[in-house]
Amino acid sequence: MVHRKGSRGHVSNDQPETISRKRQGELGQFFTQEHVATFMAGLFQKPVETVRLLDAGAGDGILLSAFVRHQRGCGYQGPISVDAYERDELILPDLESNIGSLEKECHVTIEIIRGDFIGHGSRLIGEGREPRYTHAILNPPYRKIHSRSGHRAQLRAIGLETVNLYSGFVGLALAMMEPGGQLVAILPRSFCNGPYFEPFRRFLLSRAALKHIHLFQARDKAFQGDRVLQENVIIRLSKGERHGAVMVSTSSDDRFSDYIETSHAFGTIVLPEDPHQFIHIPTGNGADPLAGPAFRFRLGDLGLSVSTGPVMDYRIREELCAEPEPGAVPLLYPAHFSGQALQWPRPGSKKPNAIRFNERTAKWLLPNGWYTLVRRLSSKEERRRIVAQVLDPEKLPAARIGIENDFNIFHVGKQPLERRLAHGLATYLNSTAVDESFRRFNGHTQVNASDLRALRYPSREMLLELGDWAMRSPTVHQQAIDQAIDHLRLRRD
Ligand SMILES: C[S@@+](CC[C@H](N)C(=O)[O-])C[C@H]1O[C@@H](n2cnc3c(N)ncnc32)[C@H](O)[C@@H]1O
Repeated sequence: MVHRKGSRGHVSNDQPETISRKRQGELGQFFTQEHVATFMAGLFQKPVETVRLLDAGAGDGILLSAFVRHQRGCGYQGPISVDAYERDELILPDLESNIGSLEKECHVTIEIIRGDFIGHGSRLIGEGREPRYTHAILNPPYRKIHSRSGHRAQLRAIGLETVNLYSGFVGLALAMMEPGGQLVAILPRSFCNGPYFEPFRRFLLSRAALKHIHLFQARDKAFQGDRVLQENVIIRLSKGERHGAVMVSTSSDDRFSDYIETSHAFGTIVLPEDPHQFIHIPTGNGADPLAGPAFRFRLGDLGLSVSTGPVMDYRIREELCAEPEPGAVPLLYPAHFSGQALQWPRPGSKKPNAIRFNERTAKWLLPNGWYTLVRRLSSKEERRRIVAQVLDPEKLPAARIGIENDFNIFHVGKQPLERRLAHGLATYLNSTAVDESFRRFNGHTQVNASDLRALRYPSREMLLELGDWAMRSPTVHQQAIDQAIDHLRLRRD
């Protein structure tokens, strides 16, 4: 067991007082808890001959210790050598002392490499001198990598274009492993969907088989970034192996008391026809509720598009008006909706009510009309992640309108939708089936336009019927929406 003071959560930022929060942020320092380290160590298959382990971003050594103890505990007597990369001077004494006792107890050789894993590892690969690890165990740092940074260029040189240190660490570690090598890592779930991590997903999935995904269902504050609360996952990869069955397990927290696991074909985790290689994580035993033929359409098949609201208020503050005024048009924020009802203007609201209509702003404005809007951020307490609303143009006295960036907006080539379609789409998106399907590939409170593009939809005719039905009933309850979607599922047209 490593020496460490008590802390909460499966990754935690309770640390020695010497390490300030700012410094933790700079180093992406969130430390693994004992239970989780033990679970991760237990995911490896029993080694056959020699073990060469990599722990990149080792912190105080909790993961490498759990690994070594687990192997020795299972009776593995062969040689174990470990490379532990760590760049933080303040944590190094803890690492050294934990390693000292481990070396004595478990007959293992450990080298600490003091410095930057990305710079050092990518250089070794460039020179053809990488050590070819058999095992890697990682809780990598979480921090954005800027597009012009040295890290970005070093990772690009090994064929990985990526936006965060955590994906850089995992990609580089994989590149340093020998065929058949096993890698276990705890990561925020954000790499499973969205455009930014697509090159990383391709990098991983083309070099290794995904063998196991564990999902912590409680979102953890430790990976909070960009206003997004994320779920965390643990993955196990096997380098050079073909994809086959994937074990998917879940637990609500790091005690694993409600642990369940089920095996799934790889084709249900990464759909064969998906050009973006989203990683779906089925929770429970059920199939994807949108998997049937009734919901086989993509947005493009329906002639529809979805984009983020074009008005980025922080870029054009001088053009915003607190209240409506001559020469300005309505500007809509989520605050202008209460449930399904649009309330515009909202006098005295913290958010502006209008935007000036002039040469500078014209390109951000849309013709007033019927649209379906989906909020980009749902609150943690909300039952559904996707909250869709219908924009009723009759409530807005203007020919053009501004939609703020906190919305996703469905449109037809930047023109409004047919009224029935706007209602049908909102009803469909507000169903439990859509929510469940969405949660299989998105673990954020953030809904991106790319996620809405990745969903499957019913036919245009079905959406129009759904719209007719919704327009006839002023308040539609969740149960009624879900029944309507069940009826669609059983239809054959
Ligand atoms: C998320 S923490 C995990 C620490 C430990 N492995 C654990 O599981 O508790 C990531 C560690 O990576 C270290 N780190 C950050 N950037 C690094 C880099 N470029 N090279 C090596 N280590 C780095 C941090 O100092 C931190 O200790």
